[in-house]
Amino acid sequence: MTAVTAPLDTLADFPAIPKDWAYLDTAATAQKPLPVIDAILRSYGETYATVQRGVYQRSADMTLAFEAGRRRVAQFIGATSPDEIVFVRGATEAINLVAQSWGGTHLKAGDRILLSTLEHHSNIVPWQLLRDRIGIEIDVAPLTADGRIDLDAVEAMLTPAHKLVALAHVSNVLGSILDAKRAVALAHGVGAKILLDGCQAVPRLSVDMKALGCDFYVFSGHKLYGPTGIGALWARGEILESMPPWQGGGAMIDKVSFARTTYAPPPARFEAGTPHIVGVLGLHAAIDYVETMGLGAIHAHEAALVTATRAALGTINGITLFGPEDSAGIVSFAMEGVHPHDIGTILDEEKVAIRAGHHCAQPLMDHLGVPATARASFGVYNSENDVAALVRGLERVKRIFG
Ligand SMILES: Cc1ncc(COP(=O)(O)O)c(C=O)c1O
Repeated sequence: MTAVTAPLDTLADFPAIPKDWAYLDTAATAQKPLPVIDAILRSYGETYATVQRGVYQRSADMTLAFEAGRRRVAQFIGATSPDEIVFVRGATEAINLVAQSWGGTHLKAGDRILLSTLEHHSNIVPWQLLRDRIGIEIDVAPLTADGRIDLDAVEAMLTPAHKLVALAHVSNVLGSILDAKRAVALAHGVGAKILLDGCQAVPRLSVDMKALGCDFYVFSGHKLYGPTGIGALWARGEILESMPPWQGGGAMIDKVSFARTTYAPPPARFEAGTPHIVGVLGLHAAIDYVETMGLGAIHAHEAALVTATRAALGTINGITLFGPEDSAGIVSFAMEGVHPHDIGTILDEEKVAIRAGHHCAQPLMDHLGVPATARASFGVYNSENDVAALVRGLERVKRIFG
């Protein structure tokens, strides 16, 4: 087995991972390190109060902590201003927000948008809902043989009728990394905006909005070692300014009367209701945690585990590996004659947790010609021991299925 060149020794930071359990489902959700758990406990157990509205000191302090979280997210992804960060429940909500608010006002019947075959359902269905409402057309870019979004095909498909390109920065099934800068240049070349789904990228790669030059970027906190129920939409300031509210209620208004209501500027305009206060503080702690380690080190660590896994699985008869060699932390595979759910169930008996299913990417499953895949995905806490446990478990699957 190839040696892991950049081992991270973090398992002790993760109390929910017993030593004899190989957790290989980080692409679904990451386990939480102690600093994140502590931040959540402290927020509920010591410092809790509402934000934005309270006149008392506790609430003012919590508001400062909440807005510090927004500044931290902005700095983490290289935004120009914290005002470009809209807190949402996660990537799914962020894409729905863009589709309904930006798409609902900036797109019209006959406009085209371009997605790709490997998108997560959360970057497909919101656009279909919009198509059914206003009559846009959706084009789907194909993949290369090794499972990347085919940007040569994207270049050939794009026309001035395309107003938006929306692509996964890293595939949640194949781990393939998009050449985001080229995708941005292609979209902008025909005057289209581009949204990048950074759900799987943000925990694995260093991202910088200024360097990428995209228009919208979305991610979920829970895949970044933070809490569930919190995520971020980033959009360039002038784009957010041009977008109407998508949900109404408290916190998003300027002045309300029955005759007429005016709205707050972004980001408050898009944050109706009491926000996930503690989620933001937990996300702040999660960003501190990954940045202390460094995204470069995390990427190298996961890349080494992917290399080791692909090498080991490649020697097991009847296993097909999907996706490119340089996948970011994710290995999908199939075993001849064994349903992925059976693989997952037997591995569970061996204390190895993987994901088996369509991974919310049914069009990609159709493209691969399988109903489902087995998927091992890595995080900062994994090591060669987990790869070895996976291989042992798969050897048992083979023995059982003959
Ligand atoms: C690439 C990608 N996009 C979007 C999502 C949706 O994220 P969430 O369910 O946190 O909103 C996921 C989650 O698996 C994902 O992997």
